[in-house]
Amino acid sequence: MTSSPRLTVVPSAGDVADQVARRIAAAITSNPKLVLGLATGSSPVATYQRLIQLHRDEALDFSQLTTFNLDEYIGLASDHPQSFRHFMQQQLFDHVNIDLANTHVPDGQCLDIEKHVAEYESAIATAGGIAIQLLGIGSNGHIAFNEPGSAADSRTRQVSLTGQTIRANSRFFDSVDDVPRTAITMGIGTIMEADQIILIATGDVKADAIGDAMLGPVSPDCPASLLRMHNDVTFFVDESASPKRDA
Ligand code: GLP
Repeated sequence: MTSSPRLTVVPSAGDVADQVARRIAAAITSNPKLVLGLATGSSPVATYQRLIQLHRDEALDFSQLTTFNLDEYIGLASDHPQSFRHFMQQQLFDHVNIDLANTHVPDGQCLDIEKHVAEYESAIATAGGIAIQLLGIGSNGHIAFNEPGSAADSRTRQVSLTGQTIRANSRFFDSVDDVPRTAITMGIGTIMEADQIILIATGDVKADAIGDAMLGPVSPDCPASLLRMHNDVTFFVDESASPKRDA
């Protein structure tokens, strides 16, 4: 059975960040021990900046929070400038009072990937599951690194990136050849177990993906469309990323 995700369209990317940060801050305030699922990519950066501002201006307290990130490139050290661990340190963790011991990002240099992904799943379960999962969306509809074709019940695992994703993410690297070809990602089944899912998309490059996700068939061909099987998912988009076609 599918339900409609809520679509919240606001004028600008800044408004998306304001609304999402306020929603997350309210959840942290009502439960300081919240378990939060975090995303990388450019989409959540402004939201993280708002959260940092709320920490500074309104003493938003991250000290008891637990976080799990969606994914990580295989082969990059945690201090590599393009690793997602490094991204999280730079964009959020270094600027708030979070206990780094409670922050989890898959280890792109783990020696035993099978063991590591099983432990990642166990750690989420031991923490009590993810209350709010933040997501971006790739222009091909991918969520985390679940590329088209990923199964609805997929779990945290090693995946290969598509050429489209490698090209899109090459903007952060010196050259396309430097982009890792494989990654560890939470599965779609893992993501769907979060109590609440918030997907952020801004800019017209995301409009087709949002249209496919919200209005196209519910299919692994567009992984984000599978979110419509979740009963508490909100797509926060700016006007330029809102779907440009009718249902
Ligand atoms: C990467 C990440 C995704 C992210 C996507 C879109 O592939 N693995 O989690 O949603 O990029 O990134 P951006 O927000 O930069 O467009």
